[in-house]
Amino acid sequence: MPDPGVVVIFGASGDLTSRKLVPALYELASQRRLPLEMAVVGISRTEMSHEEFRQKLRETLEEHVSGGVSDDVWESFAGGIFYLPGDSKEPETYEELKGLLKKLDSERGTLGNRAFYLSASPSLFPTIVERLGEAGMNEGEDGGWSRLVVEKPFGRDLESARELNEEIRRHFDEAQIYRIDHYLGKETVQNILALRFANGIFEPIWNQHYVDHVQITVAEDIGVGTRGAFYEEAGALRDIVQNHVMQVLCLTAMEPPVAFDAESLREEKVKVLKAVRPIPEDEVEDYAVRGQYTSGWVWGEEVSGYREEENVDPDSVTETYLALRLFVDNWRWAGVPFFLRAGKRMPKKATEVAIQFHSSPHTPFARDDTEGLEPNVLVVRVQPDEGLSLKIGAKVPGAGFEVSSVNMDLLYGTAFLEEAPDAYQRLLLDLMLGDPTLFIRADEAEGAWRILDPVMRRWTEEKRVESYPAGTWGPDEADEMLGRDGREWRRP
Ligand code: BG6
Repeated sequence: MPDPGVVVIFGASGDLTSRKLVPALYELASQRRLPLEMAVVGISRTEMSHEEFRQKLRETLEEHVSGGVSDDVWESFAGGIFYLPGDSKEPETYEELKGLLKKLDSERGTLGNRAFYLSASPSLFPTIVERLGEAGMNEGEDGGWSRLVVEKPFGRDLESARELNEEIRRHFDEAQIYRIDHYLGKETVQNILALRFANGIFEPIWNQHYVDHVQITVAEDIGVGTRGAFYEEAGALRDIVQNHVMQVLCLTAMEPPVAFDAESLREEKVKVLKAVRPIPEDEVEDYAVRGQYTSGWVWGEEVSGYREEENVDPDSVTETYLALRLFVDNWRWAGVPFFLRAGKRMPKKATEVAIQFHSSPHTPFARDDTEGLEPNVLVVRVQPDEGLSLKIGAKVPGAGFEVSSVNMDLLYGTAFLEEAPDAYQRLLLDLMLGDPTLFIRADEAEGAWRILDPVMRRWTEEKRVESYPAGTWGPDEADEMLGRDGREWRRP
């Protein structure tokens, strides 16, 4: 159980607050994992009273929590929700905030502990941090703590990420900074570590001697919906690849950490990012493909193309799909390609890590009998159908010796009775407990940008994007990129 404290959310009228943050805090409260004295303060420019803010959150809560909202739990939880209308650029807002927080310390017993959650527009992050510093809120009151949570995207490129790190560190120490990536809060993403380091049989074969290549897929069936304006600025690279995909790559490729603590784990992740072979700017097409969906069919429904979406430039070259071919140049992974892809409007939602092993060096069976045999593939299904599967060769029942591929399958949902909590629950609890293990360190954020910077530079100059019909697995150029390596994308 963490100590009491206040979570102050900047950008409180935004989607993330009502869709993720408040539902996660509510669920934690209903499981009695948060102290009763806990408080939440929302800040944004919209004029609202405390009561109107609570009402607005209550209206959407039902959709975002599993098992419905209990009136009793809500009543006690809502009593700790407050709202402050204000411009986050203006120093007066911070004076008012300071007053409100002091009042909460004495009336609710929040002990001077504060977590400031930056969920506003990223362009405001430096100003908010500066104002918090000027107002002395970079330190807790009366011996309490002060922590800063920074939502993604963290910068727009390497340079801006460095600048942002510098600006934040002018006011907050690294130990106070929690750069959030909700993929690290996902149970199945953490399970990559359990699979690798809590079992004796996988680690010996988790290297170039046994692994032919690795594929990491973050496919979504949804389009950009109402987020066109945001997405135009971000694209798949900034929205998903620089953070979620790179984190999954790190956990898949890293060396065993000496302990499961913030420094040991993050140290090993940074080493992976450092080992990724830089992509030469004049050879980007050998390592990266970008695509944009055109109109098509998803789940039997006709959907429009990206350029027809709300708030999207009709000539936009923003990528909604990105495929990368990376090499991790170290002893473990020398020569093993890592194929990464993320896309919207794919045929289905599927996030997975697939480790494809070398084929058996020799099969004593007749060639005709092994025609359907594929190499062994271990798939970690991050979502949906969270679990693991291992493709193995097995004898087809009957006369002769026909061998074919079958899957051994583990579903976490049937192995454990508990339902996996939402990623934000885990991360918000860790934040309140002061455990940054599942948050991103400054050098990690920069390390991921270092890999992607040449790709972005090249694409900014080129102003060209491949296309793929909605409901397909991406542009042909991405298939060709793997084809040149003699590999093929999986169809999850
Ligand atoms: C977010 C992106 O970080 O992750 C969204 O901004 C994306 O564009 C989402 O849809 C995917 O998260 P999840 O948990 O649904 O895989």
